[in-house]
Amino acid sequence: MDFDLSAEQEMIKNTARDFADREIMPGAQERDRNAIFDRSIIDKLAKLGFLSPTLPEKYGGMGADFISEALIFEEIGRVDSSIRTTLSVQVSLTELPILNFGTEVQRQKYLPLLADGTWLGCFGLTEPGAGSDAANLETRAVKQGSQWSLTGRKMWISNGGLANLALIFAQTNPELKAKGLAAFLVETQTPGFSTQTIKGKLGLRSSNTAELILEDVRVPAENMLGEIGDGFKIAMWALDQGRFGVASGCVGIIQGCVNASVKYAKDRHAFGRPIAGFQLVQEMISDMVVDYEAARLLVHRAGHLKNKGVRNTRETSIAKLYASEAAVRAALNAIQVHGGYGYSDEYPVERYLRDAKVATLYEGTSQIQKLIIGRLTTGIDAFT
Ligand code: CAA
Repeated sequence: MDFDLSAEQEMIKNTARDFADREIMPGAQERDRNAIFDRSIIDKLAKLGFLSPTLPEKYGGMGADFISEALIFEEIGRVDSSIRTTLSVQVSLTELPILNFGTEVQRQKYLPLLADGTWLGCFGLTEPGAGSDAANLETRAVKQGSQWSLTGRKMWISNGGLANLALIFAQTNPELKAKGLAAFLVETQTPGFSTQTIKGKLGLRSSNTAELILEDVRVPAENMLGEIGDGFKIAMWALDQGRFGVASGCVGIIQGCVNASVKYAKDRHAFGRPIAGFQLVQEMISDMVVDYEAARLLVHRAGHLKNKGVRNTRETSIAKLYASEAAVRAALNAIQVHGGYGYSDEYPVERYLRDAKVATLYEGTSQIQKLIIGRLTTGIDAFT
């Protein structure tokens, strides 16, 4: 087992770290306070190639591996999970499904636009009445000549109000249940497509989350991704990518908690010495460090399997479950280390907590990850 990063991975990590510290961290508190999405950061990330790390160069990507992708998401997640979310939805839930399931025409049409940030993408699976039960969609797709008519609503869609391209999952034949689902590449300026931005979120305040409303949206038949009946598998495959991005971002949050806590604990004095000298403070910091190392190894193992091109649902779910729960634990401990100051946004740790919590919810709750892992371990399906 080689734990060293390659020279290319080191270089990508250092570039991502510098960019995160220089361009993302300074405005993070202000953007969070005022719920501002800063498009200029996304444009700069695109120039570095970070909007498409794992896409082949012929589609405008960097052609890097999945460990490199994880390193980028870690470094950006360390300073701002809103930006990391925008990025991972673009990469993991939009670009990679098109790369894996798209026709050559679809790849050439959409991937370069997503890679250079001209377009943003979003992933339209969840509905107001269907989150964990992702096969039970009400959005309908009805064939009308050479087009499909899509009607329905999608809920909690990251990037939803900004996206130019939406990957929409819809039911073509309700009697077939999961096997009737299909995936469609929907250009969001198509008549009948509208969005409603969701306000008042606990965290990820400077990212966009929206409800999508589709009213007889006409999509050319050639914009179906895969075949009729492939929709559910495409969604599950995509979530193996998305959950990896979430887990990587959470590794970054834990690192951010360690950094902030060590600095504060060395600066802050009580009873005549820095609080970093107290055993109970060191215990909280060492818990964060152990979680960081464990989460990072789990993420990199899942990335290693992705590089080999083998199914990694189990390893990705383990990484996502562990890293997201560990990020919440780390953020709670980081607030505790900061005492009263941790309760205000003068320090980043309360934002880390608010941003970490969603990672235990979106792209499959912790309970869903446990049931996926449990089913693969016992061979018994808790869902049916
Ligand atoms: N890769 C490829 N194929 C897969 C797959 C994967 N990872 N997972 C499943 N499949 C295939 C299976 O092989 C199976 O194929 P066959 O029928 O040919 O055998 C088929 O898909 C059905 O698989 P399952 O039997 O495993 O499906 P299930 O119904 O038992 O799944 C579930 C249940 C695991 C709970 C699933 O519904 C699930 O993951 N739910 C959570 C959904 C979720 O994460 N939603 C978040 C949406 S994104 C979001 O949060 C918004 C955002 O903007 C970020």
